Amino acid sequence: MKLSSFLYFVRYGLKTIITKGEDPILGTVIVTDKCNLHCKHCSVNNKTAVIRPYIKVKEEMKILYDMGIRILFFCGGETFLWENSGKNLRDLVIEAKEMGFMIVNVVTNGTYPIDLPEADLILLSLDGDREHHNIIRGDTYDTIMDNIENATAENICFYMAINQINKETIPHVCQLAKEKKNVKAVSFNFHTPYPDTRYLKLSAEEKKQCCDVICKQMDEGAPVFNLRSVFPYLIENRFPVPCKQCVVIENGKISICGRCIDEPGLCDECGYFFVAEYTLLFSGKIRPILEMLHTYLRYI
Ligand SMILES: C[S@@+](CC[C@H](N)C(=O)[O-])C[C@H]1O[C@@H](n2cnc3c(N)ncnc32)[C@H](O)[C@@H]1O
Ligand code: SF4
Ligand code: SF4
Repeated sequence: MKLSSFLYFVRYGLKTIITKGEDPILGTVIVTDKCNLHCKHCSVNNKTAVIRPYIKVKEEMKILYDMGIRILFFCGGETFLWENSGKNLRDLVIEAKEMGFMIVNVVTNGTYPIDLPEADLILLSLDGDREHHNIIRGDTYDTIMDNIENATAENICFYMAINQINKETIPHVCQLAKEKKNVKAVSFNFHTPYPDTRYLKLSAEEKKQCCDVICKQMDEGAPVFNLRSVFPYLIENRFPVPCKQCVVIENGKISICGRCIDEPGLCDECGYFFVAEYTLLFSGKIRPILEMLHTYLRYI
């Protein structure tokens, strides 16, 4: 990260903490909900299967920029399916940087060739070892491994949603993150139990066991892009929700925090680590603040 961007985020963070501000800093554009997979834990794919027009995506990027957002995520559906008006996902990343976003990240299932050197992080979903990942995501593990090997930059971060199927496979993903040249880190979430996937939810005791495993992996040198001081809050869902400093825009509709905001009661069972990390940080908790500075400087 550039020093000027780092200082911008430090200033924003201090102002937000001191004034209890709610101005957003992190935004996500959903470029399509179309997806080539139908993962067992996912409730957001292929509802419309529409690829958003380039002009609309560009408008939405501008809306987020004008709101003050400087950390941009492109998400889906599957982001690499996005193509419109002769532009592809890489063009969007480049244009986002040109527009002035300081960090531009992409979330992908990793089943398409990865050529996004301009992205700060490519959050690539890996949900365990071959057996468990494939149970959740279909027969995709080997394709993903090939795509990682052939990626054109070292900017990949594994993204694992821990649930009842894959909860024992955290060490495998940590080890791969350590070994793979193009992979910088791994970032975790717990399953967020939408009504149709409640059976995948983890109990507080199971979340604690997972956090203990993640901590052990961190102690042994695994590059984990999460804040350990936040784990106790995540285990018992004791963090403020939703995250007022995060927004998502899908089909022109802006939602605070996530598109899941409209699901009754879901926020009380939220498993997204970024929500706990950001809300505790902005509520002025010292350890998450220090850890965030350290972690962001290391991986971005
Ligand atoms: C919806 S996907 C879109 C991007 C891309 N298709 C992918 O799979 O990475 C974004 C991330 O959300 C995660 N996810 C989906 N449903 C979830 C849930 N109910 N709880 C937690 N994470 C979930 C996925 O595993 C993935 O890492
Ligand atoms: S690849 Fe992503 S969007 Fe597609 S079904 Fe899986 S989690 Fe959902
Ligand atoms: S707090 Fe609510 S809106 Fe935000 S990610 Fe969690 S479930 Fe979604």
